[in-house]
Amino acid sequence: MDWGLKNRLAKIIKPHDRRGVMLAVDHGYFLGPTERLEVPRKTITPLLPHADSLMLTRGVLRTSVDANFPVPVVLRVSGGTSIIGKDLSNEKITTSIKDAIRVNASALAMSIFVGAPYEHESLVSLGNLVNEGEEYGIPVLAVTAVGKELEKRDARYLALSCRIAAEFGAHLVKTYYCENFEKVVNACPVPVIIAGGPKLATELDALQLTYNAIQAGASGVDMGRNIWQSEYPVAMIKAVKAIVHQNVKVKEAHEIFLKNKGGETPTKKEIKEKKPKKAKAKSA
Ligand code: 5RP
Repeated sequence: MDWGLKNRLAKIIKPHDRRGVMLAVDHGYFLGPTERLEVPRKTITPLLPHADSLMLTRGVLRTSVDANFPVPVVLRVSGGTSIIGKDLSNEKITTSIKDAIRVNASALAMSIFVGAPYEHESLVSLGNLVNEGEEYGIPVLAVTAVGKELEKRDARYLALSCRIAAEFGAHLVKTYYCENFEKVVNACPVPVIIAGGPKLATELDALQLTYNAIQAGASGVDMGRNIWQSEYPVAMIKAVKAIVHQNVKVKEAHEIFLKNKGGETPTKKEIKEKKPKKAKAKSA
């Protein structure tokens, strides 16, 4: 591996433990103003000091992240579809390598859609992106996307997708956690990190998912909604980070979450939920 590529990758997957905490805030590229990411700067700023790297589009990077803050950027360079469009798999590369270099990206990220109508196009795009990345020493993160078909997330399908991504030269793969996740990791010769997926019922569930993934061999997370859709996002990222980098168990991570949530200001929604309801005046 070339020096530059190795050096950039080391900013994302830390060499001391070969793990990383990537904060995903790229959702708007096809979902628009996702809940709790309506004003990206507001969501991102308090979390920045706790993330090893930040995954996002150039639009949100330029408008909503302070360029003086030294967080490594994983730049989403694919897109072209929306949640209300015909087919989420019809993505193309939308950001040039020149612009990625201009914003000092530490890695390029794009989605592949194995088994979907535009499988071929997304895989060829991955091959081409790796060619460009290798030329300039920039690693590529392949995201094994499932579009709206969340039920696709089983070990057989995800192992197939991750392996294909690695065969095409991706330096890092992001996928979903599933039962028998070891099969996915073992069949993939490059580091695998997990997305959190839609917000789970509780923070404990998301910490359990993180722990299970790490135990099964994941190299970390590229997590979004289960962090910033929590009422206490900073406490949540700290707890996730403790699992990833300090090998803490779920109980301890949850304690970290509970301890840290004390220091965070609750959101308007939470204040509203906690307010005792006024008793209805009885009619005379
Ligand atoms: C969407 C993405 C997201 O970054 C990814 O799904 C991670 O976010 P979350 O943890 O919210 O699922 O790549 O295609």
